[in-house]
Amino acid sequence: MATTFDVVDIIRTKRDGGELSTEQINWVIDAYTRGIVGDEQMAALNMAIFIRDMNRREIVDWTQAMINSGERMDFSSLSKPTTDKHSTGGVGDKVTLPLGPLVSSFGVAVPQLSGRGLGHTGGTLDKLEAIPGWKADMSNARMMEILEDSGAVVAAAGAGLAPADKKIYALRDITATVDCIPLIASSIMSKKIAEGTSSLVLDVKVGSGAFMKDLDQARALAQTMVDLGHDAGVQTRALLTDMSTPLGKKIGNGLEVEESIEVLQGGGPSDLVEITCELARHMLDLAGVHDADVETALKDGRAMDSWRRMIKAQGGDPDAKLARAPHTYEVLAEKEGTVQQLDALALGVGSWRLGAGRARKEDPVQATAGIEIHVDLGQRVTKGHKLLTLHTETPERFEHALNSILPGIVIGEAAAPERRIILDRIV
Ligand code: URA
Repeated sequence: MATTFDVVDIIRTKRDGGELSTEQINWVIDAYTRGIVGDEQMAALNMAIFIRDMNRREIVDWTQAMINSGERMDFSSLSKPTTDKHSTGGVGDKVTLPLGPLVSSFGVAVPQLSGRGLGHTGGTLDKLEAIPGWKADMSNARMMEILEDSGAVVAAAGAGLAPADKKIYALRDITATVDCIPLIASSIMSKKIAEGTSSLVLDVKVGSGAFMKDLDQARALAQTMVDLGHDAGVQTRALLTDMSTPLGKKIGNGLEVEESIEVLQGGGPSDLVEITCELARHMLDLAGVHDADVETALKDGRAMDSWRRMIKAQGGDPDAKLARAPHTYEVLAEKEGTVQQLDALALGVGSWRLGAGRARKEDPVQATAGIEIHVDLGQRVTKGHKLLTLHTETPERFEHALNSILPGIVIGEAAAPERRIILDRIV
């Protein structure tokens, strides 16, 4: 007979700084998923973990128990290797869009199971849904067909993958226990391992627009996730990348698709191109394609061909003109000086308030809402220079959005601090 435990003992053990056994962890995750342990008890346990931390063995067990709560995908029957990337989320982070087609143009399969945005960071599915006709839903059999054929797919992560994480994450969101390294690492890695990829590159964001505001914390999170991947037999690497300023020059669903297409046409902003190429090289290296010339694949149209196949395979029209918002507002420099700050969180919240994001899971998003940035950090501007264009379908939102955006833009006399995009690598 399976051992049962007293959940109050488990909470007390962690509250007092003790170590949870493998059996206790397996039991509590399973019992919570089945509704035997209540939300208030799991919330108390999460808070105890937040305050007391978990050791490596506990994190591995917690992750494995969440994987075991649901199904696992298996891509081993494909004729090509698979690789995946996961970003911890940031403002203007549309890297998945050009990256999947770029990597798959080298004959490697990239099954990206993605989510919708919540709060100030956007979701990949919301972005791609700005393309007329594009759909995320498909059967597993159809996904395998597309992967075999065009090589890249972006699908909605099904409810069957790590259901324990879905329940626990929703609870953490409303109990101030999201920003906790063992809980974030186990949450992300349980889903990635259950997705069945054989290799994984993590893009761990650092800065105001990210979960992790400082580099040491981000490094600890990245190392924990890399260790979890290795322990589960998934070759895993991590990049630490800057998220104090938005990535690229466009924020918002349709605007981010536009900018991704610029990258696939061999152009696009340099920070976005740099991260896309670096992630692609690591993914390809792990999949056995060494020293790939990814820059050339962006310039000579191979990645674009792969994008067109991916969009068509999922019902989208790659030639459709993307809609533009009916209302715009220009933010102008109030004085002469150097652009010293374009704060990622301020602009992310601003774009969300313009209608690009949602406050509750069931809210709709506007495909055309968002922000275009017209200046670079360190650029000299004169009074009246155009800094941003705000886009929305609902102009009554401008004022609320500006309350977030304006304090995040700093123009002054000192030089701007130099921006490095890739801050560290864990390989
Ligand atoms: N993303 C996840 O999937 N889980 C977390 O805990 C944080 C970010």
